[in-house]
Amino acid sequence: MSARPPASGPSVTFATLAHKKAAGEPIVMVTAYDHPGARAAEAAGVDAVLVGDSAAMTVLGYDSTVPVTVDEMLMLTAAVRRGVTVPLLVGDLPYGSYEASDEQAVRTAQRFVKEAGCDAVKVERGGTTVARARAIVAAGIPVMGHVGLTPQTAGALGGYRSQGRTAEAARRVRDDALALQQAGCFALVFEAIPDEATRAIMPALSVPVIGIGAGPATDGQVLVFHDLLGIGDGHRARFVKRYAEVGAAMTAGIAAYADEVRRRAYPAPEHGYAMTAGEADRLRGMLAGSGD
Ligand code: KIV
Repeated sequence: MSARPPASGPSVTFATLAHKKAAGEPIVMVTAYDHPGARAAEAAGVDAVLVGDSAAMTVLGYDSTVPVTVDEMLMLTAAVRRGVTVPLLVGDLPYGSYEASDEQAVRTAQRFVKEAGCDAVKVERGGTTVARARAIVAAGIPVMGHVGLTPQTAGALGGYRSQGRTAEAARRVRDDALALQQAGCFALVFEAIPDEATRAIMPALSVPVIGIGAGPATDGQVLVFHDLLGIGDGHRARFVKRYAEVGAAMTAGIAAYADEVRRRAYPAPEHGYAMTAGEADRLRGMLAGSGD
């Protein structure tokens, strides 16, 4: 079993998120994909951590979320679980792991709970996903829905572009969101939806809505860890705000290390170990005498 750190406060529950929505207190979610990232998110006091399938691009080097496998996601999610105690932990079901049937969806969701310790799982789209979400909820696993720009099926949406730009398109987003809410989702992600559309849809929803590129009217915000910290050099969506330049600091740190190794400035005496007094002389004598 995982050695989780001791809780540094009361754990965030589904009721906490509902309460925050009712109280008008913004919900903070961030993605994380490994143990140090999870520890940083917990230390920063976020409400929820999503091990997003954005891991495919941010940490695994794929060019979309489509190729990432359940096993890859489970390994990353379990590492995050070992780093978070207080925030709610949501695992992202990857493309192809839940769409085919309710049975497939439930089986995959159960793996995320059983093998990676998730509190909840996330699924993308309305349409046939609504039945999958209902089946997972019926199996006792909380589900977060995700509408608007759904990267797993971005091709069918005409690429990575904002959704709900016309009244009809925004109504489709609302219909998907309502269907997922009615299927029992405890919360929804709204991705890349114009602010006016979000504002028009929000009154119809009673569950917390966490936005990414959906304006300020949602009940909370989520950003991708690597985007907000400035790690990586991939495409940056317009909704991303950089709060740090960690990638540049990483490169500078490794370059400084490489420089010191090449100049023989590192390691310095304080980075080494000493033999017990007199033992170095004894060793030299021993090695000289042995003829080795
Ligand atoms: O995979 C992910 O990181 C996500 C968030 C952008 C919501 O789905």
